Amino acid sequence: MPNLIHKKSLELFKKAKTIIPGGVNSPVRAFKSVGGSPLFIKSAKGSKIYDVDGNEYIDYVLSWGPMILGHTHPQVTKAIQKAAEHGTSYGAPTGLETELAQMILKIYPSMDKVRMVNSGTEATMAAIRVARGFTGRDKIIKFEGCYHGHGDAFLVKAGSGALTLGVPDSPGVPKDYAKNTITVAFNDLEALKKTIEKEAKNIACVIIEPVVGNIGCVLPKKGFKKYDIVLIFDEVMTGFRVSFGGAQKAYRIKPDMTCLGKVIGGGLPVGAYGGRKEIMSMVAPEGPVYQAGTLSGNPLAMTAGIETLKILSQKDTYKKLEEKTSALEKGLKDAAKRAGVSTKFYRAGTMFCTYFTDKEIFDYATAKTADTSKFARFFMGMLKRGVNLAPSQFEAGFMSLAHSAKDIETTIRAAYEALREA
Ligand SMILES: Cc1ncc(COP(=O)(O)O)c(C=O)c1O
Repeated sequence: MPNLIHKKSLELFKKAKTIIPGGVNSPVRAFKSVGGSPLFIKSAKGSKIYDVDGNEYIDYVLSWGPMILGHTHPQVTKAIQKAAEHGTSYGAPTGLETELAQMILKIYPSMDKVRMVNSGTEATMAAIRVARGFTGRDKIIKFEGCYHGHGDAFLVKAGSGALTLGVPDSPGVPKDYAKNTITVAFNDLEALKKTIEKEAKNIACVIIEPVVGNIGCVLPKKGFKKYDIVLIFDEVMTGFRVSFGGAQKAYRIKPDMTCLGKVIGGGLPVGAYGGRKEIMSMVAPEGPVYQAGTLSGNPLAMTAGIETLKILSQKDTYKKLEEKTSALEKGLKDAAKRAGVSTKFYRAGTMFCTYFTDKEIFDYATAKTADTSKFARFFMGMLKRGVNLAPSQFEAGFMSLAHSAKDIETTIRAAYEALREA
């Protein structure tokens, strides 16, 4: 196995650190939880990414989920190029926005209306504002370990106990603001019931990642579902990943509101939030809840989203995705067994995670039992064998349509060797 050279990546990182906080524009890219230095990427195609030193990797990060077709899909790329020739932003409506909205509403029938924004963070921040405006209440319930972007209301962690008033997780989040976020353990139905019974009159919404991709891949238990408050499904990650119609389709739950992002932008910056007509009618200019964006509904982003969803809606697409991801699942589980390493593997559609633990994972606390230093060694072992995983034990991996049987075979072989080393 050749030792990969990362000279140019190291130089670029050194330079970036002098003028960009931590050298990156999103913290998890910095490789802090696995040690080492991030790869700087030059290009990507299909299932592969290429760093500035000329190394090739089979990519399971896929831009943290969006690239479900694989990178630079020719149909999407061509459509973006063509759209760019017509102008990159107008600050006025286009038919493309309605076209993408229509596609989304058809696939997610729980939504009557949808508003486009530029990121998942914007979608969740707006969704809770609308839920608060709709109910006239201030408090929200979120679940420990669920990530909903970097909005103030979400950067709150639980202390001990079932009903915990929020304490800011990050400096800069006002304590008074964080007080309105109540945190409950994921999959703890009793704690949720108690919280709602106690606080029902003050709670605007419950927001949930229906499968928690932001502590790896934590699946919901049965019965952990709807209550009589605005229920917001944050499907920024699970949308088009747990199934074509998201987790709500897979688990047959009709949320009041839904947040989307990632896949619906086909690799360009897009988010969306939508829901029942009477809730979405609160949004300006139809209603009094203000939310706006200079680049919202951007024509390039809409085009990339439309083309991506067109391909995803073709017959057999999800069958192929399922075959690929289950082949990887089987191979990785088997590799761990052969290597004699205790792991737990979880998967929901094309999202998955291998935890270095022998305990079942069902919430934040159990996810934390995973051995992060073992994961870090595994991660590095995979990287040097040309497999790019998310640089943290607590992030999901993603499959794309472009991953070939050979890619999967190579990944499984690399995993066996890296597991033995780890
Ligand atoms: C479930 C979920 N919600 C919201 C977000 C925030 O989206 P963005 O990074 O586009 O702001 C993410 C990002 O990973 C996410 O996974």
